[in-house]
Amino acid sequence: MNHQLRTGLSTVPEMDDTQFVRWQGLLEERTGMCLAPQRRSFLQTSLGLRMREVGCDSYQEYYDRIVNGASGAIEWSTLVDRLTVQETRFFRDPDAFAFVEQFVQQKAAESGDDGALEFWSVGCSSGEEAYSLAMVAERHLTAQGKRYAVTGTDISTIVLRKARAGRYQPRALDWVTDEYRQLGFKDLQPGSPVQVSDTLRQRCCFSQVNILNLANCPLQSQHVIYCQNVLIYFRRWRRREILNVLAERLAPGGILVIGLGEMVDWQHPLLEQVHSSRVSAFVRKQSNSTGETTRR
Ligand SMILES: C[S@@+](CC[C@H](N)C(=O)[O-])C[C@H]1O[C@@H](n2cnc3c(N)ncnc32)[C@H](O)[C@@H]1O
Repeated sequence: MNHQLRTGLSTVPEMDDTQFVRWQGLLEERTGMCLAPQRRSFLQTSLGLRMREVGCDSYQEYYDRIVNGASGAIEWSTLVDRLTVQETRFFRDPDAFAFVEQFVQQKAAESGDDGALEFWSVGCSSGEEAYSLAMVAERHLTAQGKRYAVTGTDISTIVLRKARAGRYQPRALDWVTDEYRQLGFKDLQPGSPVQVSDTLRQRCCFSQVNILNLANCPLQSQHVIYCQNVLIYFRRWRRREILNVLAERLAPGGILVIGLGEMVDWQHPLLEQVHSSRVSAFVRKQSNSTGETTRR
């Protein structure tokens, strides 16, 4: 019997255990995302709707098309966008942004010019997190004649396109203070889509990086690495591996900010944990002239 699930206007075929395990495995192998059995109907609906769009009747046929076909890589980039959770917003975690702001203020107050301060939003989705970092940097560094650059990376090319455009629905500003609205956006009109300012867009670049392949990512010596709500979907051993690489990509004195509770029992010899119940953050120890790391 051919079971079907009716969702809104569409009907999608029911997914059996074998297909669920196969697709779950592919998703985890390629993105790190570990899909719980309770999310089978999400997988079934997302795949089923896409299969209808591309004229494919069975999960196995679609799977073969993704892994074997010449156009599989292109189709995968559409699918990955449908299967990953992309929820985000400006200044999503106010405590974490307050912590970053404090760090940036300290840097702004330091004398001398050590070059641009580098920020990295890992798993940046449609860019709100990266632009929030840029607003903090713009506010405190530019006034002191200091430079900064923000890189947002994500696995999905579709969200990256939205991030580069920097155009959002008006309700995206609900969490943005008046000061940052004025600083970060241009031509604000009530009820109209909002556009990130040219200055911030010039400071931010967006690039496709799969965090399972950080070895191929050239970003180094970052002053702020901000990685929230990405690792939460991964197995613990994988979170640990990724954080170990991110730790090495920090500049001495730089900070790594993750989501509260996203990795509770992780330590790294290069890092010192920030003791706070409100943020989960680490500071890279300074290195002395012999290259040894020291606690300050
Ligand atoms: C829930 S959003 C988080 C966005 C933002 N960091 C925040 O906290 O608001 C998770 C993002 O991680 C991305 N992602 C998932 N797996 C990834 C991977 N293997 N490499 C890079 N990005 C990934 C998704 O595409 C999605 O945009």
